[in-house]
Amino acid sequence: MRFLIDDANVEKIKEIYTYYPVDGVTTNPSILAKSKRQPYDVLQEIRELIGPDADLHVQAVSRKAEDMVAEAHRIREALGENTYIKIPAVPEGIRAIRILASEGCRTTATAIYTPMQAFLAAKAGADYAAPYVNRMDNLGADGIGNTKIIHDIFQKNGLKTQVLAASFKNSYQVLELCCYGVGAATIAPDVIEGLLKNDSVAAAVDAFIHDFEDLCGEGKTM
Ligand code: E4P
Repeated sequence: MRFLIDDANVEKIKEIYTYYPVDGVTTNPSILAKSKRQPYDVLQEIRELIGPDADLHVQAVSRKAEDMVAEAHRIREALGENTYIKIPAVPEGIRAIRILASEGCRTTATAIYTPMQAFLAAKAGADYAAPYVNRMDNLGADGIGNTKIIHDIFQKNGLKTQVLAASFKNSYQVLELCCYGVGAATIAPDVIEGLLKNDSVAAAVDAFIHDFEDLCGEGKTM
């Protein structure tokens, strides 16, 4: 499962990259708005930080397919051809995905709340489909269950599209989808930091250091 950061705070991305095995960064318009910076300024900085080969996903905001396609061209020109263009899985978006796929442009179908959206985006040629796990849960639907269904639909229909699971609020949601072997997950920094948060582990590490220092002296190491 590829592991991405869902954020546009350059300092935070740098920090997460220092500690964790990360494959790239995803953004959306709301995440960019939180940075309070010009979108291309912050995105270019992120591209420079993660390198030309890392995954970067950037969303188009137009409502019409032709305009989404024009945005995709501008995004790729500014941020590199391997940048994934996020397109909402609505009728105009499905049309845009079909056009972009025919041009060889990488796309991620986004705003996915139902398996049928994901199926149609995959048939249209999307590289990834991003189901919103926690937002589905908030609607009383089963976010993890629906994401597994989407993964199965792709496999059983021989579609090349991969799941890019998104909108996580806790470690359990991430673990469930790791176990299922979905293609990728994009996770906000606070949830990433929670993945390894465990008081029992911290206490065990402290006890080892304490015992060693009792034996050899304070500050001594092997
Ligand atoms: C990803 O495609 C989405 O933009 C994002 O993960 C949504 O996350 P949220 O539900 O925390 O806003």
